[in-house]
Amino acid sequence: MKIVVIGTGYVGLPAALMWAKHGQTVVGVDINENVVRALNDGTMMLREKELQDLLEDPTVKKNLLASTTPSEGDVFVIAVPTPVDELKKTCDITAVASAVQAITPYLRPGNLVVVESTIPPMTCRTVVKPLIEKATGYSVPDEIRVAHCPERILPGNIFHEIVHNERLIGGMNEATVDAAIELYEVFVKGELHRTDDITAELSKLMENTYRDVNIALANELAEICENLKVDPRKAIGFANRHPRVQIMNPGIGVGGHCIPVDPWFLKEVAPYTSNLISTARLINDGMPARIAGKIRQKVAGISDPKIVALGATYKKNCEDMRESPAVEIVECLQKDGYRVEHFDPMIPNMDYSSIVEAVRDADLIAVLVCHDTIAESLRQNDNAIKLAMRTAQCVFYDDNVLAHVGIQRRAA
Ligand SMILES: NC(=O)c1ccc[n+]([C@@H]2O[C@H](COP(=O)([O-])OP(=O)(O)OC[C@H]3O[C@@H](n4cnc5c(N)ncnc54)[C@H](O)[C@@H]3O)[C@@H](O)[C@H]2O)c1
Repeated sequence: MKIVVIGTGYVGLPAALMWAKHGQTVVGVDINENVVRALNDGTMMLREKELQDLLEDPTVKKNLLASTTPSEGDVFVIAVPTPVDELKKTCDITAVASAVQAITPYLRPGNLVVVESTIPPMTCRTVVKPLIEKATGYSVPDEIRVAHCPERILPGNIFHEIVHNERLIGGMNEATVDAAIELYEVFVKGELHRTDDITAELSKLMENTYRDVNIALANELAEICENLKVDPRKAIGFANRHPRVQIMNPGIGVGGHCIPVDPWFLKEVAPYTSNLISTARLINDGMPARIAGKIRQKVAGISDPKIVALGATYKKNCEDMRESPAVEIVECLQKDGYRVEHFDPMIPNMDYSSIVEAVRDADLIAVLVCHDTIAESLRQNDNAIKLAMRTAQCVFYDDNVLAHVGIQRRAA
């Protein structure tokens, strides 16, 4: 099989590597020339160790070529970004549309086009199908097959999840689903679920919407607990002892390119019947400002306080800063005129040489994202940190759980 993957980022590249590893001929197409050059040089822009190993694998090297332009193939997989339009809160489908347009000169009857990008329901039928039919004159799905096979991988655990996660295979007819199953069976060991494209589009959005709503509930419950001076971790932990309750962790907000984005795509197609979804979005989007407010309260009364924020990624132990609430919190404080220094040992240009030096003369450390490395440095240097700070206090959002623990104290 010759597979042309359009968009070689977090989603497209791992899939391209896996197909290449399993003997398929793969062309990874990206509009970013640096990405293409890096891939052809055997390096990559994403810092995931196992994926880098895969890129150096001789079979992969033989089978994978990166290019800025598509070419003919049997299968075209579209994995380009689908951000939310910040003003309209709707899906910006531009990249998907231009990726589809870019492949149309190369499409031949019998080809399969798979959209892996997360898209609003009906996109395959109202955007992809008409674009292909208009540009090629071939009919979808009879001559060109169009499927939606959304991705569920977790950055930081991509290699395991891309193989073992179950997947939805949504096609406009049975022949399309058969072809897409054949494509994913190459490396996926998780169950492949046959369905239609619209159901696949919807189910993918439901997954992240469920998580967003659950986290919003947790954030609201945490606020109620804090007002009543109850530890939210304990209260939620006890509630979760109920066999049918699973409240997620409250935190500083949700980030990444999925949870804060995808629920809006449901709202887009059902504006009048998605009140809970948009309320959850607003609660979670409001968290960084609320956390910044809590930090301001902590340093109230200290003249020209110096705040050191630790952790900048959107979740712990990963290097992805997209839509990071930690960054938003720091920006919020800086806009208010606070002196904030922001470090993250997972991000090369934000690293500290030593945590003790990073917190020197600080009045408050805000541990926003507690990577294991940060937790370890804090534990090992507890006393030195206390001595290095001007006013030794620390707001610690352990595992994104909104609770003050441990080293909250003042120097003599
Ligand atoms: N990252 C995740 O964990 C994840 C998980 C599930 C689904 N998704 C979805 O997958 C899609 C891709 O996300 P991602 O995280 O891989 O994005 P990404 O930004 O990491 O990668 C996208 C790549 O596509 C390239 N690109 C953009 N427009 C292009 C075009 N017209 N032609 C060719 N290349 C183009 C970009 O240069 C970039 O390298 C999005 O819809 C996202 O919501 C992401």
